[in-house]
Amino acid sequence: MARTTLVAANWKMNGQREANEALLLALRAADLDSLSCDVLICPPALYMAQVSQLLADTGITLGAQNVYSQPQGAFTGEISARMLKDFACSHVLVGHSERRELFGETDAVVCAKFTAIQAEGLIPILCVGETEAERDAGQTEAVITRQLKAIMATLGADSLQRAVIAYEPVWAIGTGNSASPAQAQAVHAFIRALVAQEDPHIAAALQILYGGSVKAVSAGELFACEDIDGALVGGASLNADEFIAICRAA
Ligand code: PGA
Repeated sequence: MARTTLVAANWKMNGQREANEALLLALRAADLDSLSCDVLICPPALYMAQVSQLLADTGITLGAQNVYSQPQGAFTGEISARMLKDFACSHVLVGHSERRELFGETDAVVCAKFTAIQAEGLIPILCVGETEAERDAGQTEAVITRQLKAIMATLGADSLQRAVIAYEPVWAIGTGNSASPAQAQAVHAFIRALVAQEDPHIAAALQILYGGSVKAVSAGELFACEDIDGALVGGASLNADEFIAICRAA
C-alpha cells in the first residue's frame, strides 16, 4: 500500500519573529512543493499567523504542538482545536513525551485531546515511545501497546483512519542518539501489526512517522524502511539546510 511520506517540523518552544522569517524564507526558496513528500511546520502557537503568512502558496502546511480538550470557555491560557482550525492548521501533535513527562499528561488526557482534535476535523499526530529504562527492561512493546490502546479502546481503531502515529523513543529525543533504522523499523512494524489486529485496512494506510534526533545524514536510511512513512523532526527543523536536506531524502 503506497503511503505518502510526511516530514513534520516540531519547533518546540524555539523561534522569534526574525529568526522564523529567515528560516521560512529559506524553506520557500527551496521549493519543497516539488518534492514527493508532504511538509508540515508546527511552530509555537503564537507564531502561527506569521508562519501561515510566510508559507502561503507553498504547499507546506501548518500544524500545532498542543491543544486543550475543550472547544471554548473559561480555560485561561489554553488554545482550542477550533482556534487552530481558524488558522488553517491541518495537524496537531498530541501525547508528545515532553507533554507527558513535563506537564503530567496521562493517557486519558491524551485521549481527550485526540478526540477534540478530530472533532474539528483536524488530524492528530499521536506520539508514542518508551524511555531508556523501559527499553532496557524489555518493556518497549508493552508501553507502546498501552499508549495506543488508550486511544483504540476508547475511540475504536476507526479513529486511526484520520490520524498519524509518531514513534518517538524518549531516549532518542534531543540526544543526538537516533534509533537505528532496524530498531525503528521493528517498532513501526509492531505498531502496524497491533492496529492490524483491529483493522488490517486501516493499519495498511496508517502513516507512522519516526522521531528522535533525525538528521539529514540518517534520514534516507530511515525513510527507506518499509514501515517508516516520514519523520517528526525537532532540533534539525530549526536549521534550514538540515531540514531541507531531510525533506529531500524523503
Ligand atoms: P529531536 O526532537 O529531533 O530534537 O530529537 C524530536 C521531537 O521531540 O519531536
